[in-house]
Amino acid sequence: MCTGSPSEQATGQAANTATPMPRIGDSAPDFKAVTTHGELQFRDWQAGKWALLFSHPADFTPVCSTELTELARRNAEFEARNFKLIGVSIDSIHSHLAWVENLDQILKVRLPYPLIADTDKKVSQQFGMIHPGESSTVTVRALFFIDPKGTIRAIIYYPLNVGRNVDEILRVVDALQTAEANGVACPVNWKKGDKVIVPPPKTEKEVAARKALTNVERLDFYLIKKSL
Ligand code: BEZ
Repeated sequence: MCTGSPSEQATGQAANTATPMPRIGDSAPDFKAVTTHGELQFRDWQAGKWALLFSHPADFTPVCSTELTELARRNAEFEARNFKLIGVSIDSIHSHLAWVENLDQILKVRLPYPLIADTDKKVSQQFGMIHPGESSTVTVRALFFIDPKGTIRAIIYYPLNVGRNVDEILRVVDALQTAEANGVACPVNWKKGDKVIVPPPKTEKEVAARKALTNVERLDFYLIKKSL
C-alpha cells in the first residue's frame, strides 16, 4: 500500500513537519535542560558569554569519544576566547554519567563541560540536529556558535561517520571574533595573525574612501587586504 502525501510519494522523502531549523542570524532558542552539571536554563547558563552548543550521535561510541575528549583537552582554549561548551545527545542522564566516568577511566580525560540529556528530543528538534536522511533516531554532529546576545553566528554540520576538527572550530571562533571586533572579513584559509579583508564597498562614497586607505594590500577596488 502506498502511504504519504502525493509529494512524499513522488520524492520518496518524508514531509518535513518539524520545527524550522534555526539559521545564522536567528536568536538561538532558549531551553531548560537536565545536564551532567544539573538542571539549567540555557541563557542563564550562558551568562553573557559566547556558547558552543554541539550535538553528538550517541554515548559509548568511538568517534564521539575521541571528539568529546579532545574538546575537553582544549577547553582552556575556548575559555580564553570567552566561550563555554555544552554538548547534547538524546541519551539519558544515566548514560551520560556512566560515559563521563568511562572516558575518565579509559582515556584519562574528565569532561569539564555539561552534557544535556535530551531524551525527549526537545533541544535536538528545536535546533534541527536530527537529519532524518542521515539518521531518524540520533543527532548528527552539529555545532552552533552563539554570541553573548544569544544570536546564532555560525552553524556547522558533520555526518555520523566524520569526526570534527577542533583546530577548525577554534579557527571559526577566532574569525567570528576578529571580524566583529575590527569590522572586517576573513578570507579563505584565514587563521589568527593573517591579513584580513576590508569589506567591499556598497556605495561610490565607500569606493572613494577605500582609495584613500594606506598601508593596505590593494588588489582591486573591491579586494583589499590589511594587517591588524
Ligand atoms: C561514533 O561516534 O563512532 C559513531 C556514532 C554513530 C554512528 C557512527 C559512528
